Amino acid sequence: MSYDVEAVRSAFPALQETVDGKPVVFLDNPAGTQIPQQVIDRITECLIHYNVNTEVPYGPGERVTRMAQEARQAAADLLGADPDEIAFGNNMTSLTVLLSRSLVHEIKPGDEIVVSHMEHDGNVGPWVLMAEDAGATVRWIDIDPETYAIDLNDAQEKITDRTKLVAVSHAGNGTGTINDVAAIIKMAKAKGAWTFIDAVQYAPHGYIDVKELDCDFLACSAYKFYGPHVGILYGKRELMGRLRAYTVRPSLEKQPTRWEPGTKNYEGLVGTLAAIDYIAQLGVDYGAADDNSDRRSRLKAAWPVLGGYEQELAQHLIGGLQAIGGIKVYGITDEMDMANRVATVSFRKEGSTPQEITNALGAQQIGSRCGDYLAVALIDGLGLRASGGLTRLGPVHYNTRLEIDRALEVIDQM
Ligand SMILES: Cc1ncc(COP(=O)(O)O)c(C=O)c1O
Repeated sequence: MSYDVEAVRSAFPALQETVDGKPVVFLDNPAGTQIPQQVIDRITECLIHYNVNTEVPYGPGERVTRMAQEARQAAADLLGADPDEIAFGNNMTSLTVLLSRSLVHEIKPGDEIVVSHMEHDGNVGPWVLMAEDAGATVRWIDIDPETYAIDLNDAQEKITDRTKLVAVSHAGNGTGTINDVAAIIKMAKAKGAWTFIDAVQYAPHGYIDVKELDCDFLACSAYKFYGPHVGILYGKRELMGRLRAYTVRPSLEKQPTRWEPGTKNYEGLVGTLAAIDYIAQLGVDYGAADDNSDRRSRLKAAWPVLGGYEQELAQHLIGGLQAIGGIKVYGITDEMDMANRVATVSFRKEGSTPQEITNALGAQQIGSRCGDYLAVALIDGLGLRASGGLTRLGPVHYNTRLEIDRALEVIDQM
């Protein structure tokens, strides 16, 4: 069956919204996506029928316990992990802070932590604080100015025998580049360093296999892939079981709940499960998976469908921006190279500040984002802070060419 974006859109109530008579265009998706009705329904169901705590032997208690387990299985299926290697939290940043508080006990003065200039600050701030507390040094890998990817030659130089942890993004939230994280993980392993992959911007667009990558940790957030505000942390079983965790005493011995202090956001977990199932279903509807295949196989079939359509949108958006003139796109623009980026596109236009562009788009009910979007080092490195950073548009599988054309028209008229 060929991809039917109108059918996809009909599943998302938010995409039917108008404000002041204008249809709302959601192109600020890298900051968070909309939620399909089936996810909303599952969350509502939880709130109506089993909004109770787990492990109590009556109907609602049994149901919430089962659903929380199923959510952990779904997150494991999403990442190619085992359920006991998955911890849930508020978001990627708070899980990373929590992990950094544990890893700090493993770091000595003189050790080095390696990050890149592409990172969202959620994958920098926690490590900088950890390094400060441990007397360690933070080293930064450059971005290749041609490819906008993390520079592998520079990575080779920065990752040394002193490196204790390498923390890099799978895809950049500013440039949209997909990094060769497998190569960086290999380099880190060769030096005996741990690896933490920030997959917040990659998880909504592509297939992840933590076992194949062989990373030690990986984090992402369900609100970036059609779910509620829930963070997911993967950690290798041996590390998750051994590292010092901070929680209430009864949880300390239990894996993985030793990484989940306090009562969980059960409606959020149910929504996360439903969002993963939503993506998996696209693998049946449009991909190569059949109805009886397991969730992991359905997910594997879904990603090329979403990714392929999103690449078309990226190409359309980049081509349209470049046709306007006076516009520089900060990221991969070559048509032949679209597979090496997600559809997150950042740009500047001569004569307009990023804020002016975002305001003009906003006036037409088109969502975009401007400034540094917390890609602090990227914007500083590009020398764009004083002039307001960049404007970002990030189409996903529910956006249309027509929506992109509406945005392009506004930008062209400025
Ligand atoms: C690449 C990247 N990393 C980390 C984060 C932080 O994620 P969270 O909001 O789940 O803490 C974001 C948020 O946009 C991001 O884009």
